[in-house]
Amino acid sequence: MDASARVVLLGPPGAGKGTQAKLLEQEFGAVQISTGDILRKAVADQTPLGKQAGDYLKRGALVPDDVIIDLIAERLQQKDCAKGFLLDGFPRTIPQAESLDVILKKLALSLNCVLSVQVPREVIIERLAGRRTCKNCGALSHVIFEPPKQPGVCDRCGGELYQRDDDREETIANRLTVYEAQTAPLVDYYRRQGALREIDGVGSISEIRVRVMTALGGLVS
Ligand code: AP5
Repeated sequence: MDASARVVLLGPPGAGKGTQAKLLEQEFGAVQISTGDILRKAVADQTPLGKQAGDYLKRGALVPDDVIIDLIAERLQQKDCAKGFLLDGFPRTIPQAESLDVILKKLALSLNCVLSVQVPREVIIERLAGRRTCKNCGALSHVIFEPPKQPGVCDRCGGELYQRDDDREETIANRLTVYEAQTAPLVDYYRRQGALREIDGVGSISEIRVRVMTALGGLVS
C-alpha cells in the first residue's frame, strides 16, 4: 500500500468512476471521497446541506462551487485522508480545480495522478439506465452488467437496491450537457499540469481495472 495515494477520477456520468474508486480503495487503502454520495446522504438526512443541494441533484445541475469547495476543504483535513484519497466527482469545474490546488498546497500535498476515463454516450446511457445502488451499504450493481443474485437485493449486505432519481432519461441528458460544458475542460487543465493519464473506459469492469492499475503504475505503488 502507498500511504500517499492521491488520485482524482475524472470522467462523464456513468464512466465507472465510482466502481473503479471502490476497487482502488481496496487496493491502496486510500479513502474514496465521492461528492455525489456525500450530497445524496445529506439530501436523505435532510441536513442544511441536503436542503440546499436537493434541487440541483434532481435537475442534474451542479451544486454551487463555494458549497462543494468548503465541503472538500474540510473533508481533506480529516484523519482518514492521511492514508491517501480518491476524489470521485470532484473537481468538476475549473474554479473547483483551482481551489483544490490551493487546498492541497496549504496541506503541503500534491496529486499523484488525474485519471480521465472516457466512455461514449451510448455506453453511458446503457450503464446509467441499469445502475442500481444499495440503500444500506452503497454498493453498485447493474441489471445487465453486474446483476445481483436476487433482483432488488444487494449481494453484499442484503440491503434494498434502488435507482437514483438522476438516472432517469431526461436528467441523464442534462447531466451529459453539464459535463461537456463545465467538466470536460478539466482534461486540458490537468494535461497542462502534466498530471493526466487517460484511459479507455469501454470494456468489462475487470478490464478497466487492469487499465487503471497500468496507468497508475509508477505513480502509486
Ligand atoms: P455523482 O454522484 O458524482 O454522479 P456522476 O459524476 O454523474 O457519476 P456517476 O456516479 O453517475 O457515474 P460513475 O462514473 O461513478 O459510474 P459508476 O461507477 O456508478 O454526482 C451526482 C450529482 O451530485 C451531480 O449531478 C451534481 O448535482 C452533484 N455533484 C456531485 N459532485 C459535484 C461537484 N463536484 N460539484 C457540483 N455538484 C456536484 O457506474 C455506472 C454503472 O455502470 C453502474 O451500474 C456500474 O455497475 C456499471 N459499470 C461501471 N463500470 C462498468 C463497466 N466497465 N462495464 C459495465 N458496467 C459498468
